[in-house]
Amino acid sequence: MEEKIHKILIVDDEDYIIEGLTVILKPEGYKIDSANDGEEALQKLRNDAYSLALIDLDIPKLDGLELLAEIKKNDLLTEVVIITGKGSINTAVEAMKNGAYDYLTKPVEPDRLKSLVPKALEHYQLLISYRNLETQLRHLTRYESLIGQSTQMRDVYRTIDAVADSTANVVITGESGTGKELVARAVHHKSDRARGPFIGLNCAAFPREILENELFGHEAGAFTGALKEKAGYFELAHGGTLFLDEVGEMPLEIQAKFLRVLEERSFRRLGGKKEISVDVRIIAATNRDLDQAMGEKTLREDLYYRLCVVEIKMPPLRDRMGDIELLALEFTKNFAEKNKKKVNGISPRCFSVLNRYSWPGNVRELKNVIERAVILCRSHIIELEDLPPRITQAKLGTQQINLPLGTTLDDCEKEIILRTLDHTENNKTQTAKILGVSLKTLHNKLNQYKFKG
Ligand SMILES: Nc1ncnc2c1ncn2[C@@H]1O[C@H](COP(=O)(O)OP(=O)(O)OP(=O)(O)O)[C@@H](O)[C@H]1O
Ligand SMILES: [Mg+2]
Repeated sequence: MEEKIHKILIVDDEDYIIEGLTVILKPEGYKIDSANDGEEALQKLRNDAYSLALIDLDIPKLDGLELLAEIKKNDLLTEVVIITGKGSINTAVEAMKNGAYDYLTKPVEPDRLKSLVPKALEHYQLLISYRNLETQLRHLTRYESLIGQSTQMRDVYRTIDAVADSTANVVITGESGTGKELVARAVHHKSDRARGPFIGLNCAAFPREILENELFGHEAGAFTGALKEKAGYFELAHGGTLFLDEVGEMPLEIQAKFLRVLEERSFRRLGGKKEISVDVRIIAATNRDLDQAMGEKTLREDLYYRLCVVEIKMPPLRDRMGDIELLALEFTKNFAEKNKKKVNGISPRCFSVLNRYSWPGNVRELKNVIERAVILCRSHIIELEDLPPRITQAKLGTQQINLPLGTTLDDCEKEIILRTLDHTENNKTQTAKILGVSLKTLHNKLNQYKFKG
């Protein structure tokens, strides 16, 4: 493998020190760059991959310790070695506690420098390989706790993977209880922001003033009662993901300010003058029809297009009935554990009822039904009596089968079987469940029809 050429940044306000260190290090085969103050250094470290930074403690703008803190806060992978005068060794030790690799005292001895740098770089390499491993693991982990193997859910997983690696803003749409928040978390955890914060805010939960304050924060004295400064959600989510739930309910006044943050990637706190720049990915969710909201002018069109770079549509549970069994069993296992009960299954008749219901409350409703059933259950298997009446008494959709008087029992059976197959789009497992027969019985019957025509 080709040996990597390491880039080293020397940060000192005295040019002669930079020159001195460069003269020692350059012949060793490193690429050397320099900065004269903390801010310039941070800028360079953010924009380029340096393996190592040699930082003098006493530099203008951000001092050495502050610069180190920024490097750690921003999760930059650069290794840090502190350079210090004899008088400030205590500070150097403090820097090591805060994540510096080691320190050198001035005047720097060339031999000590030449032996320390390779060790620091080795440490850097270790860190990098550890990070790579972490990234791989992240890709192997499941999609949060999302359950489902239906084609619809597989499409969702595929989109999660695709957007996780991008920086695009995402809108997740779908009925209540379809798993929008879980998907938002999955996108975050699969992205390279996974180590950053995931901050959620429900736009429908607050009146305008409070929502504005929550999002943008304020300076002390911005309004009566604003005694202390407060960071808003945009700041808190820096380096991570901001999940805006029910974004369709965001008041128009805030939408304008929000749009500006998306465009400029910076904002001011309420009552503040300073521009604060932020790096956040926005994931918005809504169970409202955003096209309609745009038509009604309750959602700004420009905001819609900014947000909706990728849309993830969550299918309602009734459109992926094939996942019911998986979901129900997983929930049973979880709630049995939580409630310390020995429930470990669901009776076939129960399944047939669960498969027949239309689930207007989607996965959330199913989860609640199973929780209740586990609590009520007196044996180790959930029985019909453990389900709420609205489920056991529900009719299969509104579709009816009309059979004229005089139809034979055999023909009735055939009609019912074929119509149910139609309804499940030829899903035999589900058809068998709805009809309360085994898959084998269903196959036998279908074979008979084939021969009898
Ligand atoms: N595919 C899934 N697998 C496992 N659990 C799920 C799945 N989808 C949803 N859930 C569970 O259902 C409940 C509702 O999910 P979630 O809060 O993500 O829905 P939502 O779409 O955000 O709903 P709302 O619009 O009402 O906020 C949660 O308890 C969640 O854990
Ligand atoms: Mg939600």
